[in-house]
Amino acid sequence: MVRPMYKITKRTQLSQNEYDFLIEAPRIATKAQPGQFIILRINDSGERIPLTIAESSATKGTIRLVFQVIGKTTAELAQLNVGEFILDLTGPLGMPTEIKDYGTVLIVGGGVGIAAIFPIVKGLKNAGNRVITILGAKTAELVILAKECQEYSDELIITTDDGSLGMKGLVTEAMEQVIAREPINYSWAIGPSIMMKFCTETASNYDLPINVSLNPIMIDGTGMCGGCRVTIDGNIKFACVDGPEFKGTQVNWDEFISRMKQYTDEEDACLADYQK
Ligand code: NAD
Ligand code: FES
Repeated sequence: MVRPMYKITKRTQLSQNEYDFLIEAPRIATKAQPGQFIILRINDSGERIPLTIAESSATKGTIRLVFQVIGKTTAELAQLNVGEFILDLTGPLGMPTEIKDYGTVLIVGGGVGIAAIFPIVKGLKNAGNRVITILGAKTAELVILAKECQEYSDELIITTDDGSLGMKGLVTEAMEQVIAREPINYSWAIGPSIMMKFCTETASNYDLPINVSLNPIMIDGTGMCGGCRVTIDGNIKFACVDGPEFKGTQVNWDEFISRMKQYTDEEDACLADYQK
């Protein structure tokens, strides 16, 4: 029997399906950099899922994970309370975001992908960039970490699909307005695959370089299993070790989106079985 090690010290429910956990993981917290992720396993029979490190504190020895309940494992994770433990946390994994002074940067987060852009917003602001952040979600309730992103942004634009907060529309519409208005040196987009695909299209129309973060199914997280295979600029790469960040224009989006849907039926059946 392996002794559980990673204690949940804070648990906040952000919306109906989104949770914000603070977890004791001192060794990971010391090394985590923007853009990196962990792979967790809740118990001995559990699957391994990747989650971006939304924030880390080396002094407190904690990492912050923000997730959406989309399958059995995230549903199980959401049931854990303060004082309970996660069995395995492996990380920090993946190549960190290249943090440097680019000049003016545009950073777009969609839905729960906002949690993944927050450390990048913070890192780029601390590196001296002028940071313009766009947060997009379906409704006002789903706009997460707005206060945190505001603190590290020179300008924060919020979009909602239904207009319940900020501008009514998609993040790409806000992107267009910003790019048409002033010169931007580099951009990032993290959120649903379809959003990242269209953000890439928008940025490319203006010759603006854009990085995206890919979140395929991952198992080992060390480049051994091939589960996270993606095609980048015609070459096979592993998102866990070569990414998760890639240039948006080099991603084979059709293949990526199709592979993301590969196990939808099994995942839905597994969740339905768990919720019986
Ligand atoms: P969502 O579907 O509510 O979309 C969020 C925003 O993305 C929308 O409000 C809209 O502004 C924009 N968007 C969506 N479709 C678009 C389109 N066709 N064109 C332009 N903009 C569009 O987001 P959600 O329900 O929170 O999505 C969660 C998804 O994000 C999950 O599938 C999850 O796997 C993914 N995710 C990805 C990462 C990553 O690292 N890439 C991290 C966390 C979550
Ligand atoms: Fe196995 Fe990336 S998760 S190779």
